[in-house]
Amino acid sequence: MQVIRDARKMQEAAHAMHHADRRIALVPTMGALHEGHVALMRAARSKGAALVVSIYLNPTQFGPNDDYKTYPRDFEADQRVCAREEVDVIFAPSDDEMYPSGASTWVEEETLTTRLEGEQRPGHFRGVCTVVSKLFNIVTPDLAVFGEKDYQQLRVIQRLVRDLLFAVEIVAVPTVRDADGVAVSSRNRHLDAHSRAQATVLFKALSIAQDLFEQGERNTHRLQAAMVRAIELAPAARLDYAEIVDADTLQPRPEARRGDVALVASYINNTRLIDHLRF
Ligand code: PAJ
Repeated sequence: MQVIRDARKMQEAAHAMHHADRRIALVPTMGALHEGHVALMRAARSKGAALVVSIYLNPTQFGPNDDYKTYPRDFEADQRVCAREEVDVIFAPSDDEMYPSGASTWVEEETLTTRLEGEQRPGHFRGVCTVVSKLFNIVTPDLAVFGEKDYQQLRVIQRLVRDLLFAVEIVAVPTVRDADGVAVSSRNRHLDAHSRAQATVLFKALSIAQDLFEQGERNTHRLQAAMVRAIELAPAARLDYAEIVDADTLQPRPEARRGDVALVASYINNTRLIDHLRF
């Protein structure tokens, strides 16, 4: 397994792989690797491509009130996970490498990012779209794997690839959950036992909405109200949003339909968690 920190070297390594007729699969991550990331690596592997995992804690996708400073960092442990998963290359660039001094070019998607995470975290998706575009230019992958866990991010990346004509196939992997339903996340490391127990309310709320939907409830307002009530049962919860939207446009509508997506974002004490379920 190679660890490459230099963008030019990564471009050269990618060029050599293409030259040897190897397809390249990229799994972009911010490190603190867990079972969710591992599922992405295995999905990439199953495509028979050379596997590049990028580990880069991208500062531009964090707002001033976000958790950039406290985001878990453990490169040694990440390296062990990658070695175990037979990753070919870890691309772990520095900030200077990704954002050369005076960098003033940004990639912005203007429709899907106006609501939900985009509304709660201004500039977040601009940072994501910019860094993912840079990673695509550096690693030149044939395919890139993203988790459904970050549902809006997945949709935004698919739009980015279409609109900017990136020749990259986007592969989506279902959310990996712990036994109690909580979506695995790097941020779960911040939860003490008490908060961890309360973090289950996100998935519980989504499951309640799904059950109501299966029982015939279609009124979006009532479905959303049921999610809000469920989350508010946890004393440590502070809700950002609980919404049901069209899976493609991410726009709300009065009557929910099969295939729609319920999305929730809530703080559990100081840790902000997101989750979703598709009806
Ligand atoms: P990060 O949060 O590290 O997530 C990297 C990838 O892992 C994303 O595609 C995310 O959706 C996926 N993932 C995280 N938890 C998952 C889970 N429980 N099940 C399945 N997949 C999961 O998302 C980012 O980093 C960044 O925004 C990035 C795309 C790397 C750009 O900086």
